[in-house]
Amino acid sequence: AEDDTPPAQKWSFSGPFGKYDRGSLQRGLKVYKEVCSACHSLNYIAFRNLADPGGPGYSEAQAAAFAADYKIKDGPNDQGEMFDRPGRPADYFPPPFPNEQAAAAANGGKAPPDLSLMTKARGYERGFPQFVFDFFTQFQEQGPNYVSAILQGFEDKPPAGVTIPEGTYYNKYYPGHAIKMPKPLNDGQVTFDDGSPATVAQYAHDVTTFLMWTAEPHLEERKRVGLQVFVFLIIFAFLMYFTKKKVWADAH
Ligand code: HEM
Repeated sequence: AEDDTPPAQKWSFSGPFGKYDRGSLQRGLKVYKEVCSACHSLNYIAFRNLADPGGPGYSEAQAAAFAADYKIKDGPNDQGEMFDRPGRPADYFPPPFPNEQAAAAANGGKAPPDLSLMTKARGYERGFPQFVFDFFTQFQEQGPNYVSAILQGFEDKPPAGVTIPEGTYYNKYYPGHAIKMPKPLNDGQVTFDDGSPATVAQYAHDVTTFLMWTAEPHLEERKRVGLQVFVFLIIFAFLMYFTKKKVWADAH
C-alpha cells in the first residue's frame, strides 16, 4: 500500500556532491554501540576504520581508545585456553552472539541480521518498472529511507481488525508488518554531547547515516573521482573538437 512506502528523507550523502555528515556519523556510532549492538553484529567493520578518511573522522589514537573499551575473544594461548583481551585497532566489532543459533534463540527464533550492509540490502526489492524509475531518481536513498523508517515505524498495537502473531511487533514499514525486533529506540535513550536532540527521529537518522557509511565507506572518494572524471571529459571534448577542426582545416 502507498502508506507503507518509507518517506523520502534528506541525506547529506545524496547527490553528486554528497558527503557524510561527520557529526551524524559519530552520533550514529554511539547509537549503534549503546543500542543496536546488543543484538546486531557489524562484522565488516574494524575499529581502525573509524579513523579512515571519508568516515566518522576520528584520529588513530581515538579509534584505538574506542577499541580498548571492548573485550575481544582470543586464543588459544600456550595452555590451549581461550581468553578475553582489550580490543585493538585491527579487531573487528565483536558480535553480540557466538553464532546464528544462539542469536535466533535469544530473539524469538529469528537472528538479528548483520547491519554492515543493511542499507544496501534493503529497499531494492521493488518491482519493475518502479525499479527503473528509482534508478534515475533516488535509487541510492531507498535503503537508508527504509532503515530509518522501520526504526520509527513501531506502533503500540496493530490497527483495528489486524492481528499479528505472538512474539512479533507491529511495524508500519516492515514488509508484512509483523517484525520480531522489539522497538529499539525511545526518546532520551542516548545522550549526545553536541546538543543534538535526544529523539527517536534524530537517533534513526544518525544511526542510518552511520550504517550507510559502514555499507559504503568509500562513497565520498567515489563521488569525488566521478566529478573529476566529468570535468576531465568536458575539457577533453573541447580539446578534441579544436584538434579535429585544425586537422581537417584543409579538407575539401
Ligand atoms: C531486524 C536495525 C536494534 C533485534 C532489523 C533490521 C534492521 C534492524 C534494519 C532488518 C529489518 C528487515 O529485515 O527488513 C536495527 C537498528 C537497531 C536495532 C538500527 C538500533 C537502533 C535491535 C535490538 C534488537 C534487535 C536492540 C534486540 C532486542 C532484531 C531482530 C530482527 C531485527 C530479532 C529480525 C526481525 C525480523 O525480521 O522479524 N534490525 N535494530 N534489533 N532486529 Fe534490529
